[in-house]
Amino acid sequence: MAPLLLGAVMLVAQLQLVPSRPAVVPGNEPGQPELVRKAATLQEEIPDGAAPNGSAQQLPQTIIIGVRKGGTRALLEMLSLHPDVAAAENEVHFFDWEEHYSQGLGWYLSQMPFSAPHQLTVEKTPAYFTSPKVPERVHGMNPAIRLLLILRDPSERVLSDYTQVFYNHVQKRKPYPSIEEFLVRDGRLNVDYKALNRSLYHLHMENWLRFFPLRRIHIVDGDRLIRDPFPEIQKVERFLRLSPQINASNFYFNKTKGFYCLRDGGRDRCLHESKGRAHPQVDPRLLNKLHEYFHEPNKKFFELVGRTFDWH
Ligand code: A3P
Repeated sequence: MAPLLLGAVMLVAQLQLVPSRPAVVPGNEPGQPELVRKAATLQEEIPDGAAPNGSAQQLPQTIIIGVRKGGTRALLEMLSLHPDVAAAENEVHFFDWEEHYSQGLGWYLSQMPFSAPHQLTVEKTPAYFTSPKVPERVHGMNPAIRLLLILRDPSERVLSDYTQVFYNHVQKRKPYPSIEEFLVRDGRLNVDYKALNRSLYHLHMENWLRFFPLRRIHIVDGDRLIRDPFPEIQKVERFLRLSPQINASNFYFNKTKGFYCLRDGGRDRCLHESKGRAHPQVDPRLLNKLHEYFHEPNKKFFELVGRTFDWH
């Protein structure tokens, strides 16, 4: 009962004391990581929220914004190997769900883990990348925030997206149409299938680039993260200006799972069984249509970000 009461008191204190928008620090450029951290630290404003060991909740200084099924959980888990990273456990859906956003930054803060002042707080909500309202809202909170975006081959992402929803239905013992039923309408590729739209990366990226310069968005190659995670994670460490503390020995390939798993202080763990599931077999001609459909959008995306990816 006592911890419950204390939690309620702390939450009320936060809601009253956290400004609806934290101070924006002008000139907050990549060379000034300390400013970024201080801008997003509300410790001073909410002494009641601080734990006795000096830790406190902080607004995230970096967010994994997506893409859904890009490998966002793997990225978060791998980044959490770093001692200076504190990650929110669940997807917070603050910027994309009105019922959360309307509760203000005090609520958002209350969802964050307790962390030491030198630690970076990170949350991941994959739906942010494809939600039109989100870039402006994130910018309103902190224009100097560093964003992580993990992408994979757009066609593969569609299959992964389908597989996830398929298993959600299986769990609830509900029937679910085959992937062909979603992908084909009147003998043609059904471009209204939502999963296709989520893979039109250039459209969503344009929304983000209206509010953030490209240098604030680090794109993780999700296909490479599957094949060889360590180099991708090293790049993330550099982007976040973290000291290089994650090692190749933190990763080992698990033949049974068919994916890399994590080794942390002698503890081995793989991602949940819902990550890395087999995708449905799709007729090669239909798959080809899918690859063709993404050809032009991919080119546009590569131009937008000044970089190419090894996608079909
Ligand atoms: P599949 O399950 O379709 O293979 P997200 O966490 O954004 O939902 O992404 C899930 C995807 O992460 C998985 O999609 C899988 O391919 C990918 N992934 C990347 N690294 C992984 C790892 N080490 N273990 C399991 N899945 C991983």
